[in-house]
Amino acid sequence: MAGVSVQAFRRQGRRFGAGLVCSEMVSCAGIEHRNERTLGYLRVASDEHPLAIQIFGSEPATMAEAARMVEAAGADLIDINFGCPVRKVTKTGAGATLLDDPDRACRIVEAVAGAADVPVTVKMRRGLEDGSRACLDVGPRLVGAGAAALTLHPRSAKQMYTGTADHSLTAELVELVDVPVIASGDVTSRARAQAVLATTGAAAVMIGRATQGNPWALREILEGGDAQPSREEVAAELILFMRETVRELGERRATSFLKKFYGWYLGHGRFPRPFKQELVQLATLEEVETRLLAAAPGAADVLARLEEELPSADDVLLDLPISIYGGG
Ligand SMILES: Cc1cc2nc3c(=O)[nH]c(=O)nc-3n(C[C@H](O)[C@H](O)[C@H](O)COP(=O)(O)O)c2cc1C
Repeated sequence: MAGVSVQAFRRQGRRFGAGLVCSEMVSCAGIEHRNERTLGYLRVASDEHPLAIQIFGSEPATMAEAARMVEAAGADLIDINFGCPVRKVTKTGAGATLLDDPDRACRIVEAVAGAADVPVTVKMRRGLEDGSRACLDVGPRLVGAGAAALTLHPRSAKQMYTGTADHSLTAELVELVDVPVIASGDVTSRARAQAVLATTGAAAVMIGRATQGNPWALREILEGGDAQPSREEVAAELILFMRETVRELGERRATSFLKKFYGWYLGHGRFPRPFKQELVQLATLEEVETRLLAAAPGAADVLARLEEELPSADDVLLDLPISIYGGG
């Protein structure tokens, strides 16, 4: 998820049991121009494998070149974005627009699959317009072009995140292709995951928003049970996430990036509502940490344990030039 799936988020997802994690979408044009911030997305830690890195773009040759770099950075799988509905992306001919241009979409998959040794997969929406069934036409063609798996988020691009994901389309897609289909959209609980798997025949489910500030959702989906995290656990995970994000993005970028996470972590009835407002208004991350530790004093011990168990930053493999550390 763009603006969410930083390395700290992915490592946390793996710790809580995710079988595969995925990067934010990475611009192939950004890679081509060696944009510092774009290259920052290609930092891969030793404990996030298996990792998919998702790319977006509209030019087959540029995307093939980007795929080589993404693979060199350590991706175990390259995913292509044919689902992003955001205008900034679609106006460049990338993302969901490609569902309306299957020939180009196929040329992109062919070029990327030809350039990469790791499997190449595609993530898509149902189509551009409400009620569209374009994914059922395009999906099999993409498999023919070399896609090793398809993820379907069965909302239209126009819908953005409104309405519900129509997984009857996922079931139809499963019938049409002989590669694994991953179901994405509105999977928020074990019951929902089981229902989607059973009714679609999908090979896996992808969990997005349910894990924002809530890695415990992964545990519930995988193992069941309704154990809620304690305040101490929540505060410790949030502080660890903050520290990791600072290491990744630098203090200045992390400070604004992290604000949306406070509500996500502290919600669910875990902390009183005004507490989040208080945190958002604090000027520095140090103050946020201090305030969190004051609200949940036991968090310090939990945090110490978590940090001890994590591979240290030195164990993290960063295969890219030192100049891009800090994210730009
Ligand atoms: C903030 C945000 C950013 C997202 N960014 C991406 C992205 O970069 N690439 C992508 O394939 N999907 C992206 N998605 C879509 C999700 O991967 C997923 O398909 C969608 O949110 C539905 O699943 P969910 O109900 O589990 O969240 C994003 C969703 C959100 C909410």
